[in-house]
Amino acid sequence: MKIIHVTDMHLVKAGELLHGLDPLQRLQACVDSIGRAHSDAHCIVVTGDLADRGEIESYQLFDKLMTETGLPVYCLLGNHDIRKVYLDQFPTAEVDAHGFVQTSVQTPAGVFLLIDTLLDGSHSGSYCEKKQQWLKAKLDQHHDQPVFVFMHHPPFDLHLPCIDSIGLEEKQAFADTLATHNNVRHLFFGHAHRALCGHWKGISFSSLRGTNHQVQLDFKSDKISYSHEDPEYAVVFIDEDQIVVHTHNYFSE
Ligand SMILES: [Fe+2]
Repeated sequence: MKIIHVTDMHLVKAGELLHGLDPLQRLQACVDSIGRAHSDAHCIVVTGDLADRGEIESYQLFDKLMTETGLPVYCLLGNHDIRKVYLDQFPTAEVDAHGFVQTSVQTPAGVFLLIDTLLDGSHSGSYCEKKQQWLKAKLDQHHDQPVFVFMHHPPFDLHLPCIDSIGLEEKQAFADTLATHNNVRHLFFGHAHRALCGHWKGISFSSLRGTNHQVQLDFKSDKISYSHEDPEYAVVFIDEDQIVVHTHNYFSE
């Protein structure tokens, strides 16, 4: 099964620049590239920060462009999103009993769990007890098949102080929950605006650059510095015995 992972669009108003770049133009190029090369993908998963300031116009633009791909698109929220405004644009989005935007998707490769780490009013992420109730129930329900988790905030430090300082709270509780059934095969996240991969508590993980600006590769400062490194999306192949993640710099096609 092939899927496309895209993250951190940070859309603003049409024609407006963000950090000296045009988020809409860059997302359009992304959509065009996916349309040319990956119309056979099972779906696109977007791991948050769809909008930079959580404005309704940004979600409308996002909806319009992503619809052009012709593929199913599954989204979760990042620290730049505003849950209520997102739900105004996508009123049929699945929410849990507490109103958090958390979704499970059955695929041929297993179950995708898209979770909500947005903490209102903060750039840090949260996975509180209320949210964990949903995750625990889903892991119990799907204990007999592979599970893939998608989230905005990474649930561990990346050795990037500027990102780690706005990481996920409740890291240990989250790790304990994922370990319940030992059937989580891979973790996809955004937030870092950098391509990286590795292994955490027996689970492989990957992230990638955003479609607009990136974060400087700085292992010392806790202050975010942005960069104009090219955007990318990831092409992910999920098979029974392997997962392969390709990152594609579509801006240099
Ligand atoms: Fe972001």
